[in-house]
Amino acid sequence: MTENDRTPALHVDEAFADEHSNTSGNPHFSEVFQARRNLLKGGVGMAVAVGLFGKAGFAEAMLPEWAQGNPAAPTGPLLGFNAIPVSRADAITVPAGYRADVILPWGQPILGSYPGYAGDGSNTAAEQAQQIGQNHDGMHYFPMSRGQAGSAHGVLVFNQEYIDANTLHPNGATTVGGVRPSEEVAKEINAHGVSVVEIRKQGGTWQVVPGRYNRRITGATPMEIGGPVRGHALVRTAYSPNGTRTRGTLNNCANGHTPWGTYLTCEENWANYFVNRDAVPPREHKRYGVKTSSNYAWETAEPRFNASTVGAGSAQDYRNEPNTYGWVVEIDPFDPNSTPVKRTALGRFAHENVAHSKPRAGQPLAFYMGDDTANEYIYKFVTRDAYTPGRSDGSMLDHGTLYVARFKADGSGEWLPLVFDDAGFQAAAFAKGVAFESQADVLVNTRLAADVVGATKMDRPEWGAVDPRSGWIYFTLTNNSSRAAGAVDAANPRGPNAYGHIVRFAEYGGRNDAIRFDWDLFLLAGPTTDSNKPDNSGPLDADSIHASPDGLHFDERGLLWIQTDMSGNQLYAGPFGNNAMLVANPGTNEVKRFLTGPVGCEITGVTSTPDGRTLFINIQHPGDEPSRGASHWPDGGSARPRAATVVITREDGGIVGT
Ligand code: FEO
Ligand code: CA
Ligand code: CA
Ligand code: CA
Repeated sequence: MTENDRTPALHVDEAFADEHSNTSGNPHFSEVFQARRNLLKGGVGMAVAVGLFGKAGFAEAMLPEWAQGNPAAPTGPLLGFNAIPVSRADAITVPAGYRADVILPWGQPILGSYPGYAGDGSNTAAEQAQQIGQNHDGMHYFPMSRGQAGSAHGVLVFNQEYIDANTLHPNGATTVGGVRPSEEVAKEINAHGVSVVEIRKQGGTWQVVPGRYNRRITGATPMEIGGPVRGHALVRTAYSPNGTRTRGTLNNCANGHTPWGTYLTCEENWANYFVNRDAVPPREHKRYGVKTSSNYAWETAEPRFNASTVGAGSAQDYRNEPNTYGWVVEIDPFDPNSTPVKRTALGRFAHENVAHSKPRAGQPLAFYMGDDTANEYIYKFVTRDAYTPGRSDGSMLDHGTLYVARFKADGSGEWLPLVFDDAGFQAAAFAKGVAFESQADVLVNTRLAADVVGATKMDRPEWGAVDPRSGWIYFTLTNNSSRAAGAVDAANPRGPNAYGHIVRFAEYGGRNDAIRFDWDLFLLAGPTTDSNKPDNSGPLDADSIHASPDGLHFDERGLLWIQTDMSGNQLYAGPFGNNAMLVANPGTNEVKRFLTGPVGCEITGVTSTPDGRTLFINIQHPGDEPSRGASHWPDGGSARPRAATVVITREDGGIVGT
């Protein structure tokens, strides 16, 4: 008998990201900050009067020359479009003079026998593996060639974060005698992962090229384990008894790319795909939230998702399978036969995105990363080797130092090394009664290592973005319902933090390998009654109110694109309307709403062609909560909603945003 076990259209990201598992005693710097908070209580606008940008209370003249002002940021012209109002339409809205075209929706065939999208959930698992997956997220455009031709022909790579069983299958997820049908599970696994698609601009519109680069990477694709954890006892499984390989990448949220032309995909809420029913689960599961039940109950059909101890040893079961997740994965978009590599030196957590530093001659590269769970941390990885254009490759990501951030109340900050051999790290671990046995052990347990050194608990770090001109690093802190009023700190000044904010920092001396930085708050998101503009001139206005900032991207001209991921009452009942994309000019401190999305969606993923004349974004989970707002985007009528990519161009062919 088939029991129709229809799962609600769960917004996985929001539903689970708030489940914080950080029980460490790390300070929120509340005591230090309380004095200043009292001082600043007079107005929200004053709450950001800290940091390196010459705002009240911190004289610019005190700063080193490199940190004064933002000379490289664009100071004009002002954002060249009129802000659009908030919207609740089941449609994409962009400013006058712009157009938005939908490409690559879930189900579009891109390879193999190009099986057509059925529309009713009846495509098979094998067909899904040849079609675009569900719930598009982070994305990057790789030009096919240098020069202008590269802005009309390239490879678009994007993540398929998770699935909605209600749209994926004819009648939602089912179980038979407590077991998920293997065909359904296979289809769900194939709807996850990454899509690689060759696209070309023809006659003014972008088309899919049925080319040899097209590829689906799924939750089942064989992967190499690279870096210090490769071969370690904690990643040995029945599939790979020597701990060098694993299968699949899951819950690929946001992304990054490398200066040598590869794509980086980030594994975020992977813990929810596994179960561990041992009486005492190991720390490398517990600290990440692996529980006794999973999102999709794949463990009932696929033994590798059961991380309980069931065999005689780790080569006989999948107790270590979750340890092969939680990484940044490198993919070569121009080699469809390449094996993706999990780059373990960058640490294991709920990775949101990874943003590389400005390449600086003779310096190593830095990669900035957020751990998107309430009260988790911001990290950076510094390569051991200097970046050499034309020479550097993925091995750069296997050797280097992982740091975690401590934000201090005086507007400075420290990068704390998570290095097994470091005397300070060992002393900190000893003082906390925590033992590590190798750098691989530190990396598998990155969160615990960060707890030990006293990193600053942040309000759900989402995307980081690096200003290509100044090199400054911006991060969204999306919200944190669990931050208590008495646990605020300078970098996380609201408790609870319902609306989120954006922090930015500059490395000391402009060095990618600096161990100090200076920071301030760029803006506080929220309604006009509780927000703050970048120039501290007052709250956000009708043109710029937004909440739960998430996606973040600097274009080549130094404009900062901000995407929102509101959910629940904030999305369906607040003053903000549907999720939106805004653009800020850090040179002029303008912020304007540029795009609004269809009902129930999240706006995420953002990348441009090198000429800036095409901007690509993704629409994720339209119609996320059908009971609060049905969506039939983009097909209309009574069609099932589909995540898709949106191509934004100017009708006059000009540069988007300026
Ligand atoms: Fe998948 Fe933190 O967003
Ligand atoms: Ca999401
Ligand atoms: Ca996100
Ligand atoms: Ca989010």
